[in-house]
Amino acid sequence: MGALTDSFGRTFPYIRLSITDVCNFKCGYCLPNGYFKQENKPGFLTLDEISNLVSALSELGVSKIRLTGGEPTVRKDFFDILKNIKSKGKINNLVMTTNGYKLNQIADQLIKDGINGINISIDSLDRNKFKEITGHDRLPQILEGIKILQDKGFANIKVNAVLLKNINDSEADFDSWEQFVKENAIDFRYIELMQTGDSLEYFRKYHVSASVFKNYLIKKNWNEVARVADAGPSINFVHSNYKGKFGIIAPYSKDFCKTCNRLRITAKGELRLCLFGNTGTNLRPLLQSPDQKNELKILILKQLNFKKESHYLELGDTGITPHLASIGG
Ligand code: 5AD
Ligand code: SF4
Repeated sequence: MGALTDSFGRTFPYIRLSITDVCNFKCGYCLPNGYFKQENKPGFLTLDEISNLVSALSELGVSKIRLTGGEPTVRKDFFDILKNIKSKGKINNLVMTTNGYKLNQIADQLIKDGINGINISIDSLDRNKFKEITGHDRLPQILEGIKILQDKGFANIKVNAVLLKNINDSEADFDSWEQFVKENAIDFRYIELMQTGDSLEYFRKYHVSASVFKNYLIKKNWNEVARVADAGPSINFVHSNYKGKFGIIAPYSKDFCKTCNRLRITAKGELRLCLFGNTGTNLRPLLQSPDQKNELKILILKQLNFKKESHYLELGDTGITPHLASIGG
């Protein structure tokens, strides 16, 4: 059985695996009213189901997995999941995306259990704005968590912010991030706001093109780095006077999907070929026993042939994605 390749020649060594839809934050662009518990069973994939899934994926050539949510660390068995995946020895790049709400408490454990990279969402370095956007006054603890990681020599830290008109898109906001990457060897990326099924009005009010940040970087003599193969969707910028780097993720830009090397699996075990696709394939019935591994691999390979060349976001088609907590960014 071959490695994961689609009909456009893209390969997929990288899976984003959501392990819960639950999030304790209320980011205006994602879960403005907070997470609502859904009573409909089944619940999220169990540790055993995740274990069976990862075994099959690694045999299909997957070497990088990103654990996402919702907020992945709200799961009580988060560290069991981490250790289970690590123990297979084949996923040499296990990374996570987190809102960082208890990073200061778990930083040590994350390093000890072998996490290879951490992406943290911080929409503003201004404590009040942070609170306004996320509904939680947690910025100091998150920054403390980053400091602990750095003091332990953990290097692969990225910080993401969603770019929001009249909230964090001013020159003063950009300056504060420039100061941050001057002092910290951290990649900071602005993500252009994406329209999702639930957020039409929010999108109209707050969407602003990432070119405002790009223009800032050009004005401040940051240099765009040529794309390398498998680099992911961000356009990166470096500057010799700064320890960190900048990046821009602009999903509405032409050719954004050409470099797409990721597949997503939802917290209930649906394979999604694209964030904004219209279909999902339920893998769960084949996650019940290690004996189903071959069948599972065949199903995943078959589905890949349906991956489209691009999303149709620019046409206003948001697919079946109500908000990103449902699929893990
Ligand atoms: N547009 C862009 N980014 C989003 N995220 C969540 N919702 C959106 C959206 N509508 C980002 C979060 C986090 C990651 C999980 O996804 O800020 O960085
Ligand atoms: Fe939670 Fe992330 Fe959505 Fe914010 S963007 S509500 S932190 S899942």
